[in-house]
Amino acid sequence: MCGIFGYIGKKENSLEIVIKGLQKLEYRGYDSWGVATEIDGQLFIEKKVGKISEAKTDDFHDKKCQFAIGHTRWATHGGVTDINAHPHFSSDKTIAVVHNGIIENYEELRDELGRDNFISQTDSEVVAQLIAKFRKEMSFKDAVLAAINKLKGRYAIVVMNVGENYLIAARRGSPLIVGVGDGEYFLASDIPAFLEYTQNVNYLDDDEMVIVDGNVEFINLTTGRSVEKRLINIDWKAEGAEKGEYDHYMLKEIMEQKDSILRAINQDTDEIMHIAQQIKKSRGCFFSGCGTAGKVCMAGEYFFSLIANRHVNFAPASEFPVYHHFLRPESLLVVVSQSGETADVLEAMDAAKSKNAKVLSIVNAEGSTIARQSDFSLHIKAGPEKAVASTKAATSQMALLMLIATAMVDELQEGRRQLAEVASKINDMLNPRFLTYIKAVAEKIKDHENCYIIGKAENYPMALEAAIKIQEVSYVHAEGFAAGELKHGPIALVTDGTPCIALVANDEVKNDTINNTIELKARGAHIIGISPEKHEVFDDWIKVPDVGIASPLVNIIPTQLLAYYIAVLRGLDPDMPRNLAKSVTVK
Ligand code: F6R
Repeated sequence: MCGIFGYIGKKENSLEIVIKGLQKLEYRGYDSWGVATEIDGQLFIEKKVGKISEAKTDDFHDKKCQFAIGHTRWATHGGVTDINAHPHFSSDKTIAVVHNGIIENYEELRDELGRDNFISQTDSEVVAQLIAKFRKEMSFKDAVLAAINKLKGRYAIVVMNVGENYLIAARRGSPLIVGVGDGEYFLASDIPAFLEYTQNVNYLDDDEMVIVDGNVEFINLTTGRSVEKRLINIDWKAEGAEKGEYDHYMLKEIMEQKDSILRAINQDTDEIMHIAQQIKKSRGCFFSGCGTAGKVCMAGEYFFSLIANRHVNFAPASEFPVYHHFLRPESLLVVVSQSGETADVLEAMDAAKSKNAKVLSIVNAEGSTIARQSDFSLHIKAGPEKAVASTKAATSQMALLMLIATAMVDELQEGRRQLAEVASKINDMLNPRFLTYIKAVAEKIKDHENCYIIGKAENYPMALEAAIKIQEVSYVHAEGFAAGELKHGPIALVTDGTPCIALVANDEVKNDTINNTIELKARGAHIIGISPEKHEVFDDWIKVPDVGIASPLVNIIPTQLLAYYIAVLRGLDPDMPRNLAKSVTVK
């Protein structure tokens, strides 16, 4: 949800550095972009509708300054226009601001500052106008502090003031990380934006501000005092965050499942056992996450039931308020998130903490807000996931939930062995022939406007997840159903040739799923069976390895590839689906 980037340091091509950094944050928002710096004592601003990847650094080559700020937008308040793009600036053109999040009291602040002074429809412009107003009476730093005191909502901001050679950034609820280079600093929404310059970072916490010139000073906004920060070295390589030989990040990340699952299960045994004990002793265990991470939680619900004989309550994070009144100190909330910044998940965590319940998080983004605000956090180590559609994070999260379930029944070693075998079978499965075959299946169904996916037991959540993948990247109307639910209504949707994907495993419910598939076929459906074994009901059979209860981990992969190829064959960019952004930091 919007990417922000600021640079200050020895280099004079700050605008080019900012644009390159924003291009690495494009997955966070891609409807418009903008940059600001100071040239000859004047504010220089360039803002444009369109993708930041289309911006040319050469256009800024002769604009020299040692600091600059920039933004790539996913619109919330105000349409997609040049004026609504960030940076926003004060009427006197002294203050420029980039903002990620939502200022909830912006209407009130607009009234206070005089509506006629505003030129955009955004909530963010109030930040620039407010700082400029205070700046008339106090220092830049005090003006930012005074303005922040008046803001309600979630934000990460980076601010510059013409005539002052430093940047100020602050956060509440939206991510902001400081990359610490050699005499230079980077302020960004995510680490890959500056990985080519430094792997050393400081995380800005909520209600903290940072002043960056030749040095860096962190200030707690509540106490007004300086805060000491630990410099953290991030174990990510710049190339890991690039597309490399692949046409799209989505395909690259699907292929990375060859080894990402192995990294996920390579966790400290004592820690996993401790977490398993915490879950066992909890009175009321809740799972929550959003979108794909929510479907992972549902799969976890089945793993916990089938492997550990333990009941858990799942609700998507946006629906979690319905459970708030059940939370008590003995409860445990398990949250799953790739980005570690999802606003609805953070709200669920706040509710749990307010009742003194414990929170365990399973996240990909190390050092993210969700990770840092949890009582226990497991890092899935999937590496940067940049395609908007989540793929490798989901399988790693499922692997970890399955591992925890085995630890709860003292079978951790066996669980680890089984999952390592699953990873090795996925490695074999993801070969070039397999990809060519799936592309050919995608070719057959790409022009249909509807597609249904069925699964039963642990594969039911995967039917829902497959539908999300197909919807979001190919814009085909896809829906997932519990196989047994078809006859209660959805089967009326099926007509001659409707593509229906059946997720089948070699498990106790296999025959039921096959019978439901036969019911679909009898109504004219074109059946794509994803299964370890061939069956005559399948028009197309996608063979997957037989991995028992771990079947969701292998069955989901062909659906990710189908979604990818349908999108590509329909001429779409699967990395940047319309209306979406990675990391949903607004409610
Ligand atoms: C779909 C997708 C989203 C995310 C959801 C939660 O492919 O990526 O549905 O799963 O927005 O995001 P995280 O996992 O970052 O909390």
